[in-house]
Amino acid sequence: MSTRKILVTSALPYANGAIHLGHLVEYIQTDIWVRFQKMRDNECWYVCADDTHGTPIMLRAQNEGISPEALIRRVHAEHARDFAGFHIAFDNYYTTHSDETRAFSETIYGRLKEAGLIDVRPVEQYYDPQKEMFLPDRFIKGECPKCAAKDQYGDSCEVCGAAYAPTELKNPYSAVSGATPVLKASEHYFFRLSDPRCQSFLRQWTKEDGRLQTEAANKMQEWLGHEGENKLSDWDISRDAPYFGFEIPGAPGKFFYVWLDAPIGYMGSFKNLCAKKGLDFNEFWAPESTTELYHFIGKDILYFHALFWPAELQHAGFRTPTKIFAHGFLTVDGAKMSKSRGTFITAESYLEQGLNPEWLRYYFAAKLNGTLEDIDLNLDDFAQRVNSDLVGKYINIASRAAGFIAKRFDGKLLAGHCEERFHAELPGIAAAADEIAGHYEARDYGRGLRRVMALADQINQYVDKNQPWVLAKDPAQGAKLQEVCTLLINAFRLLTIYLKPVLPKLAHRAEEFLNVAPLHWGDAGHLLPPSHLINGYEHLMQRVDPKQIAALVEANKPSLEPQTPNPSAVSPAPTSQHSEQRHAQHQQNTENKEQAQVSEWEPFISIDDFSKVDLRIARIADARHVEGAAKLIQLTLDLGTEQRNVFAGIKSAYDPATLIGRLTVMVANLAPRKMKFGVSEGMVLAASDESGEFPGLFILSPDSGAQPGMRVK
Ligand code: MSP
Ligand code: ZN
Repeated sequence: MSTRKILVTSALPYANGAIHLGHLVEYIQTDIWVRFQKMRDNECWYVCADDTHGTPIMLRAQNEGISPEALIRRVHAEHARDFAGFHIAFDNYYTTHSDETRAFSETIYGRLKEAGLIDVRPVEQYYDPQKEMFLPDRFIKGECPKCAAKDQYGDSCEVCGAAYAPTELKNPYSAVSGATPVLKASEHYFFRLSDPRCQSFLRQWTKEDGRLQTEAANKMQEWLGHEGENKLSDWDISRDAPYFGFEIPGAPGKFFYVWLDAPIGYMGSFKNLCAKKGLDFNEFWAPESTTELYHFIGKDILYFHALFWPAELQHAGFRTPTKIFAHGFLTVDGAKMSKSRGTFITAESYLEQGLNPEWLRYYFAAKLNGTLEDIDLNLDDFAQRVNSDLVGKYINIASRAAGFIAKRFDGKLLAGHCEERFHAELPGIAAAADEIAGHYEARDYGRGLRRVMALADQINQYVDKNQPWVLAKDPAQGAKLQEVCTLLINAFRLLTIYLKPVLPKLAHRAEEFLNVAPLHWGDAGHLLPPSHLINGYEHLMQRVDPKQIAALVEANKPSLEPQTPNPSAVSPAPTSQHSEQRHAQHQQNTENKEQAQVSEWEPFISIDDFSKVDLRIARIADARHVEGAAKLIQLTLDLGTEQRNVFAGIKSAYDPATLIGRLTVMVANLAPRKMKFGVSEGMVLAASDESGEFPGLFILSPDSGAQPGMRVK
């Protein structure tokens, strides 16, 4: 059998946020597939990288007072740690902020330009006159043009779900500085997706056999329209300075939009791997390449991978992907992951709470079926499933046979060949290898694992029928006992092969126990040799204790940090990077829309939550204007025992001089926050009317007699 040469990627996670369980669906799905290919003795390379460019990363670094390079270096180490913790075995985990990715970006852009597929034309966009930068849609907020909800993003309303252009917002403001944005024109660079060459290529490519899953192909047909229709618009690939990214050659002050260089990061990471391993880059990326290229992605970024990316590659003289494998989104207990419910769980906290990463690998695998359907992590089912399948069925086989082999037969299996007995007593266990391989290949892990668990049931029935613990009591049955246990150890070994892509660490420990070299898929074609010596058995996997799950959810509930608009230091929402992406998502219908809230007051908090907020009476010892700040007053607050420096966004409502000497209420245990003008060490509370009917801000005053430092509860 000639081995296949395969290059596999997962989407590149943004370098401004932590890896969470939603991300892990993808990386675990991909890792299982890659491990399976490697077990099949195919040449398979798995590359990924951090997606490091764009406005949110630039602003995040500014807010933290560090350079973007320092930010992406730190996050790279965190991501690499989290992935390693879940046994995601990349052959290379790189960064898009690399020489390789820059070089390929320039090459691809240059070739598209030569082909006449780059256009330059002016675009009018919102500009923040205070921060002196153009604002991505997600950094413009205002009132929804449809339902008038306040503080909605520039691309869509989270209250009524409407999608619109930022210019349609009422009373827009910059989420970066609070300033009112102005419209300003600048030259933008476009990839001419509307060119007939792109349209006809994509119409053909997206229809080709197996490129896209059926659901994805249908979506693309919708986006592409019928023959002769011209539905695709050109793609804006440039952003103006200030921007963290690659400057466009020959266009000073213009940068490649992050989504232009992100997929090129796949090539950059692979090129970097080639240098380390002596591989031939062109063998994998030249147009005539006979190797296979697969991108694993979430359904939210299909537009980028199934339209822009192949069109770019095709017209820049590179090969296009063999197939794109999209998956659905993770829900927890049937709902979108939610910070307030504690179901927005980070990879780090899962590991910190001492949960076994292979439990999650198994659970996700059992739920994955190779389609775009969302997958649900049901927290009760999780413990139950892992305990019953892995501990109760699979591990149980080894633990029931190992002790007898060790104690009664010095660790030795039967001296004679046992193939015939094995296949007679446990029919179909070895023969299932091909079928299970087919399920892995098709990414239908759920079906594969159900098959494996059915085999485990069959093996456990064999145990119950032969009752080794009864045989062990009768000295005359020694030979029979050794035979039964030998068959069981062999059956356990086969199941270990079948489960190894999902459970690599457990399989490794099982290999040590079985005293065998690392198992490949082909090893399912034979049994252990006569008189094979196994090692002593140590328990291979702990049960999940449902208490651990409860603790995990508790640990991911937000510590109560009251949120007041803090005009000089707004950090972007974690998903804020991509308006285009959000548009694509909108077009894909709004499957993942936020669950409607039950009432204005929910989710409720407990008294314990509330008591985390340390409210104190404070005397305003001093109040001053802040040079250059449009909304802030700098307060010195006296708590009796100490003084605090606090910046409060109340300039529009108060003259500092009138505040001095007043008593008010402050949050005393708010984490200090570095702002442009200094560190703010707390917050004063103020009332305002959300509807805007009664304008103004109103700070609080205690009844007479209250003293600075008194606790408010
Ligand atoms: N940086 C882009 C991808 C660039 S690829 C050239 C991006 N990053 S991301 O961090 O937002 O997401 C990385 C991958 O994780 C995406 O494929 C995304 O679909 C997937 N997931 C992120 N959250 C997810 C869930 N809640 N559930 C399942 N997958 C999710 O997009
Ligand atoms: Zn609305």
